[in-house]
This record gives sequence, structure tokens and C-alpha cells, in this order.
Amino acid sequence: MLKIAVCVSGGGTNLQAIMDAIDSGKIADTSIEAVISNKRDAYALERAKSHGIPAVCISPKDYESRAEFNEAFLEKLDSYAVDLVVLAGFLVVLPEEMIRRYRNRIINIHPSLIPSFCGKGFYGLKVHEAVLERGVKVTGATVHFVDEGTDTGPIIFQKAVDVQEDDTPEVLQRRVMEQAEWELLPRAIDLIAKGKVSVADGFVRIEE
Ligand code: GAR
Repeated sequence: MLKIAVCVSGGGTNLQAIMDAIDSGKIADTSIEAVISNKRDAYALERAKSHGIPAVCISPKDYESRAEFNEAFLEKLDSYAVDLVVLAGFLVVLPEEMIRRYRNRIINIHPSLIPSFCGKGFYGLKVHEAVLERGVKVTGATVHFVDEGTDTGPIIFQKAVDVQEDDTPEVLQRRVMEQAEWELLPRAIDLIAKGKVSVADGFVRIEE
């Protein structure tokens, strides 16, 4: 059984896709031990609770310094003893200690085709705004392992999504979620649960 924690900051549609995929059997042999949010009002927490999953908030606002927040966050995460941490719209810079401790055991979903439209400042709707400003015709999503950089870790899956002429950032965001994110993230978790994903020399190998 693969034990996972899902870290969230917002609406939680990717969390929902993971919970649905576990329920339908698309993700095998996996249990969500906890959903952790940095925002108290994240709707993702409600989704978790109504699914009977422990949902907790660790907010930087409740701590005097970033270092104290980092320590509390990591202590909470460690308490669930998970095999894999899934960042599903988690908009927090991870403590370095967490990246070291969970090397090749943290995955993230990013709403573009990395290395385009990623790195510092590219998150959520801002990614889609930048895509439309640049006028690219194809965008997409990427699932990758997390390393010390921002969106620089080994890539597991990518899927392209067409940009359409009259797209708004919101419309494009929804299409990228529907056509790419909600499919790629559950698929990556399923393959990790089945032991089919490995990382060597900064590259991902998948046995399908
Ligand atoms: C998703 O589009 C996810 O790819 C993005 O935030 C959104 C969260 O939506 N993540 C990033 O931009 C990370 N850099 P959700 O809360 O509905 O899953």
C-alpha cells in the first residue's frame, strides 16, 4: 500500500481527481493519509473532510518566522509516515530539509509544458495569462519530481493541450486541468504505487 499526503492551497480539483481515481480503482493500492493546506479557507480541505480524510492547516501566519513554520510543517508531515508527498496546487516554497528528507518522494503538478512558463512567479492562473500574452499555440501540464529548484526536477509525464483563439486565462486553465492535469497526476501516482517509476541521474524511467 502506497501511503501519500496531498499538499494543497486552493480549490483542490487535482485532489478530487486523485480521490476519485482511488475510489474507481484507476489508482491501485494507495491511501491518502492526510491533506495538508497552508490556507485555512482552502476548499480542498472541505473535499478531504467529506471524503473522511484527515485535513489539517499549517499556516505561516500562525508562526513568528519562516523557520518555525517550516519546522512545524515538516513535523506534521513526518507524523503521517507517508511514502509519497503529492503537491496538488501547493503554492509554498518547500523547506530545503523537506526536499532532502523526501528525495525522489515528492511530486508536483505544474500547469505548463516545463521548461516553458515555469519557475519563480509562474503559478496558477498566472501561467495561463503568460501563455496567452506570448501567443503560443500549445500549452499543457507536467508532473515531475521535486528537487531544490523551482519546477526543475525530473519529469515524469507531460501532455500537450491546444490554446484556442478566444481563450481567457480561466477557460484555458480549465481545459489544461480537464485534458491534462486530472489525468496525468493520478496516472503518475498509480505507476509509483506499482513500483514502476524510478529516477537515475536526474531522469525518470517508467516501466509500463
Ligand atoms: C493547478 O492548475 C496546478 O497545476 C497549479 O495550481 C492549480 C491548483 O488547482 N499548480 C501550480 O501552479 C504549481 N506551480 P486545484 O487546487 O484545483 O488542484
